[in-house]
Order: sequence, then structure tokens, then C-alpha cells
Amino acid sequence: MKPYIIALTNQKGGVGKSTTALNLAASFADRGSRVLLIDLDPHAGLTFSLGFDEPEKAFKKTAYEVLDPDQRTPIADVVVETKIPNVDLVPSHQDLVEIDYKLVNQADWARALAKRIAATGQRYDLVMLDCPPSLGVLTRMALVAAHLAVVPVQAEWLALRGLQLLNHVVGPLREDTDRHDLRVRYLVTMVQSTKHHEEVEQEIRAVFGDEVFRTVIRRSVRFADSTLAGQPLLLYQHDHQGAQAYRELAEEIRAYEQQAQAVSEG
Ligand SMILES: Nc1ncnc2c1ncn2[C@@H]1O[C@H](COP(=O)(O)OP(=O)(O)OP(=O)(O)O)[C@@H](O)[C@H]1O
Ligand SMILES: [Mg+2]
Repeated sequence: MKPYIIALTNQKGGVGKSTTALNLAASFADRGSRVLLIDLDPHAGLTFSLGFDEPEKAFKKTAYEVLDPDQRTPIADVVVETKIPNVDLVPSHQDLVEIDYKLVNQADWARALAKRIAATGQRYDLVMLDCPPSLGVLTRMALVAAHLAVVPVQAEWLALRGLQLLNHVVGPLREDTDRHDLRVRYLVTMVQSTKHHEEVEQEIRAVFGDEVFRTVIRRSVRFADSTLAGQPLLLYQHDHQGAQAYRELAEEIRAYEQQAQAVSEG
């Protein structure tokens, strides 16, 4: 099962998808994995947070050329190295907003991304897909390609409502695409030490049970600071509790995957 593919998804914006993609990538790379990040958000938040300030000027080719059915550019021709050792990036571009129109008339459009990733062969151990805050074409392609969908959820009541919407997408998508093996796990983010946050976290665990990671990500201004510095928190402040939490999350995913593989191999 190489590369292992993780999609960061939630149609709600600002919940920590890109931050999680970046810091998880750094955690896995720190343990020796070769990681590819693919920025699927036309707003290019992940690309910016890796210190690439002007993607429109900096890159000749981006995720757009990879997904455009008229070009089908191999990922190998688009990747750029990042400042994080062992982490490559397929940058995003604002043109990606138009990819829906180009893809919808294509047969089998939903598998376009999965096919391009498969063509990278053994080059990466792990691919992380940073989705836009919507349930459109880009998110669907990511879910079709992924082994695991990680859904960051902000510890607030309203956040829970949006999750029902995601479940309406994941259920039919599993049927449509024959991806019954797609796993979904929820990550509680931006937790604060208040009674309200504790109650919401308890509620999320009551509703989703084992599907919620044990690791939670606490709110800290250091995440925004590190983004401004164009780095994951893991490099910006290695011993910060937020960096430690992402290392623990990576361990949890690794252990969980080994367990799942053992079950599927019987
Ligand atoms: N644990 C955290 N504590 C405090 N701030 C955080 C935390 N995680 C992320 N942030 C900050 O919150 C903002 C939104 O985070 P991020 O960009 O990761 O969310 P997103 O889900 O990718 O958003 P979008 O849907 O708009 O792409 C950023 O400014 C980020 O630095
Ligand atoms: Mg984002």
C-alpha cells in the first residue's frame, strides 16, 4: 500500500486542515518518511504557509496542470522541494477554481488525481492532500484517491452540524466509487481549557466514538506565528506542545494503520 494517501478535509473553512497537513507532513518526514504534499485549494493556503509568497509567479506548473484533462502533466514534472527535509510540494494556483468545468464532462473524472498519484510509483511513502473548504470536485477526487480522510473539527457546537453534511458525501461516494475501504477519522482542533470546549469534545466523542483521534490539538497563537514564518510549528518551535501533539498524532495514525492492515490481511 505505497504510497499511503491521507486527505485533509472538512467543508468548513479555517478548522486547521492546512495546518494539520503541514505539521503532519513534517512529523512523518522527521521519522524518515518521504512525503508529498498536494495543495488542492485554489486559495493556496498550504503553498503560502511553506513560504512561497507569490505562487502565480513562482511556479510554471501547479496542481492545475496535473489535473487538467488536456495536459495530464505528471506530478514528477510539477513537484518542488520545500524547506522541510523529505517533503515535496505540488503547489496550488488560483486557476484551480476552474478545474470543475474542465473535468465534469470527462468520463471517470473522479479518479484523475488517484491515477496521477499512482504514476509516482514508489517515490513517496506518504501523500497528503489538502482540500479546499467545500465538498466539490476537488474534495471528491481527493476522497476517491485517499486511504484515510482526516477531518479536523473545531471544538464548537456549530462545527458538529457540518459533519453531518460530510457524512452525506462520504456515504454515497463510497458506493459510487466502490471505495468501501475509505476510512474517516476526526481530529479535535483549537481546543481551549474551558467548560464549553470540554463539553463539545465529550459530545464529539459520544457521537463518533472510536472514529475520533485520542490526540487533540490545543489552540495556540504559535501556529499562526509559524505560518507567517513560512514553516511548520515542528521546525519553528520544535519542543512546543502543539508540535508534540502533531508528533503524537502521526504515531497514532501509524499504529492505527498497522492495525487496520493486520485486520485486512486476516
Ligand atoms: N491549533 C491551532 N490554534 C490556533 N490557531 C490555529 C490552530 N490551527 C490552525 N490555526 C490557525 O487558524 C487559521 C486557519 O487554519 P488553517 O488554514 O489550517 O485552516 P483550514 O481548515 O485549512 O482553512 P481553509 O478551509 O480556509 O483552507 C490559520 O491562521 C492557522 O494558523
Ligand atoms: Mg486550508
